[in-house]
Amino acid sequence: GLPARVRIHEVGPRDGLQNEKGTVPTEVKAQFIRRLAVAGLTTIEATSFVHPKWVPQLADAEALFPLVGDIADVGDVSLPVLVPNERGLDRALALGARSIAVFGSATETFAARNLNRTVDESLAMFAPVVARAKAEKASVRGYLSMCFGDPWEGAVPVAQVVRVAKALMDLGCDELSLGDTIGVATPGHVTALLTALNEAGVATPAMGVHFHDTYGQALSNTLAALRHGVSTVDASAGGLGGCPYAESATGNLATEDLVWMLDGLGIETGVDLDELTATSVWLAGHLGRPSPSRTVRALTPS
Ligand code: HMG
Ligand code: MG
Repeated sequence: GLPARVRIHEVGPRDGLQNEKGTVPTEVKAQFIRRLAVAGLTTIEATSFVHPKWVPQLADAEALFPLVGDIADVGDVSLPVLVPNERGLDRALALGARSIAVFGSATETFAARNLNRTVDESLAMFAPVVARAKAEKASVRGYLSMCFGDPWEGAVPVAQVVRVAKALMDLGCDELSLGDTIGVATPGHVTALLTALNEAGVATPAMGVHFHDTYGQALSNTLAALRHGVSTVDASAGGLGGCPYAESATGNLATEDLVWMLDGLGIETGVDLDELTATSVWLAGHLGRPSPSRTVRALTPS
């Protein structure tokens, strides 16, 4: 059966805005995050503590986090941040971050391009990050990119994904997010990967799914994951997103499209779709182009 409730892991401010060509003012980012919280999102990935030259779009993390940190103190909202290494962890902890995410790759090419490391070197880089974060009682998510296909290596064998997924869990990650970075997955592949991960000892409650919508498969893939028992789904408001180090990546599954489907299925999210849509329309005004989300367009009178 389907889960009664889904926790949406909102990645718009991070995955969405990391990919914008123009600079989004820090105040606009802060307001975006606040509006997402008002719309009922409880997990809002705020920014990344990566090298500012690698992702200039998020180089204002030090200025942004204090503008929104108080949201995490009220109610049940968490503001995870991406942290690739100990330098990033120092920066995040110094600002009071309580929830972090490391981000590995199932393929060597993307590990080299995104982290300047081999897959195993990146795991070694994450090990002290996860250990220290856990010692500080912060929660740790492990992203795994290129779980289905890779723009340079093609289809990615399930066994290769399982090996790195297990390694991330063995480091002590609380949760694993399975990334279809370039949006090539189809539902049968999703079910096969989740089944293989279960067989390797990764339990379904520890897994989330992270679909980019390049081929329009993100919702179908999500439904396959829900049928498997997954109840954590990543999405980005308005369908923003992509990855500067994987050119063929387009936006994430739009949160509005996801909420429309989940509302229809009677699955609880706590998200107010009208409030969320208004937020994406407002942000689209700042970005200077309309949201690619079909649901946002359908709900917005022209
Ligand atoms: P590197 O060049 O190998 O870094 O980059 P290094 O370890 O050799 O250090 C070089 C210098 O950078 C040092 O300074 C460090 O202190 C500094 P120096 O001693 O020479 O003066 N440095 C830092 N400064 C600030 N913050 C830091 C930091 N780290 C080192 N954290 C590195 C390695 C990992 C840093 C780099 O490759 C990087 O920042 N990569 C991030 C790429 C990224 O953010 N990609 C997008 C996110 S992943 C994604 O979008 C996929 C996802 O959505 C899931 C999916 O869709 O599949 C999550
Ligand atoms: Mg992504």
